[in-house]
Amino acid sequence: MIYLTEYVAVLRLALRFARTLMFGALILLFCPATAFCGSAQADTTLQVLHWWTSASERKAATLLAARLADEGVAWRDVGIPGGAGIGAGKVLKSRVLANDAPEVTQIIGVSIREWADLGFLLELDKVASANKWNASFFPTIQTLIQHRKHVVAAPLGIHRINTLFYNRKLLATLRLNPPETWEELVAVAAKLKAAGIIPLAQSSEPWQVATLFENLILAESGPDYHRELFVKQNAQAVFDKRFTQALERMRQMKGWMSNPVDERPWTDVVRQIAKREAAMVVMGDWAKGELNEWGFATDDEFSCTPMPGTGKYHLYSVDTLSMFTNDYSRVLAQEKLARLIATPAVQTDYNAVKGSVSVRRDADPTRMDSCARASWNAFAQGAALQAPSLVHRMATDESSRDAIIAVIHRYFIDDTVSAAETQKRLAAMFRTFNNNSRK
Ligand code: BGC
Repeated sequence: MIYLTEYVAVLRLALRFARTLMFGALILLFCPATAFCGSAQADTTLQVLHWWTSASERKAATLLAARLADEGVAWRDVGIPGGAGIGAGKVLKSRVLANDAPEVTQIIGVSIREWADLGFLLELDKVASANKWNASFFPTIQTLIQHRKHVVAAPLGIHRINTLFYNRKLLATLRLNPPETWEELVAVAAKLKAAGIIPLAQSSEPWQVATLFENLILAESGPDYHRELFVKQNAQAVFDKRFTQALERMRQMKGWMSNPVDERPWTDVVRQIAKREAAMVVMGDWAKGELNEWGFATDDEFSCTPMPGTGKYHLYSVDTLSMFTNDYSRVLAQEKLARLIATPAVQTDYNAVKGSVSVRRDADPTRMDSCARASWNAFAQGAALQAPSLVHRMATDESSRDAIIAVIHRYFIDDTVSAAETQKRLAAMFRTFNNNSRK
């Protein structure tokens, strides 16, 4: 699918390329003899565009900004509200079109490749080799940050999307154990409901609905099938009965949520667990960062467990920062930031605030809380047990992702839409995607 913005971006790329060549030639000619390079290097402010606007997200960004300031570089914050980056992606596109790209941007997963393909991203190979990123990061992370054998992103942390948060005290009052299987989850939900407690907090925001759905797919069938659907977009796989079952289960879960299911930001949904207004929520583990920041320590008021049926698996989203080359005047500062965020110290401190876990193989799990330790250990088992999150752009490009989410969302909000119709619609969409990619 080619959108106008992408088309215009390609045109701009040609212009940018020509400009870059001229700029590079100028530097080579005059750099040693003039003050020009000096002034370029001295400009040490970086605009950083991201979607970390909740309390814990802001705290994590502030931590990075403070460490960067220690290195003499100022972080000019551009936080765009909207969970899962709904707003930030649009702002980034329009700023690039206006020739006003920020020097640093939170770009994650497949989107990294999309921007790198257009030639906008700074190659960080020097930083990567000097700091032995190859030997330090999990293999999945190394693959994720590279495009055509060049490193084009710096990794911050790994979020686990298959996480069920629950209010320990509510479950304990009814003597309920956190559920590990679908059957246990059904039983727990029934008991909570009978006691007048809302079993599951949920928003009808499309990305939050699709998060629940991709968890159900993983629970039902594991990472291979999840990839078959969301990475390979195999139309035949959509007609599998495991897909029907996941859809039916999602509708069954609607009966455990408040009615109607309002469209609310993720922070509001998580707050319900803290306030004992609902017992459980399926959410990426940034929810843990947020709960901690509100004063709720892990394993006190709340705790977490993998989404029932996904205990061995890790449905992941990796936060990364990419650097826009622009006129190459901030390269030194950009490289400093890239180097800094992957250091063991920043990895430990940042991830403890953010709720995610270190991308480094040499991290120390004994220093993590129970949720983080389980996540890091699950991820460390390797690619066979990892599933790239659809919602968080790890599985497919932005436009396919949006289209898939819309189909799932429609099924969720409108009870008259059948599972069979949804499957037909999605399979047709997958065929179109595959035809387009073959062209
Ligand atoms: C990002 C997280 C962020 C979450 C909620 C995810 O896509 O990876 O860093 O906290 O969205 O906005």
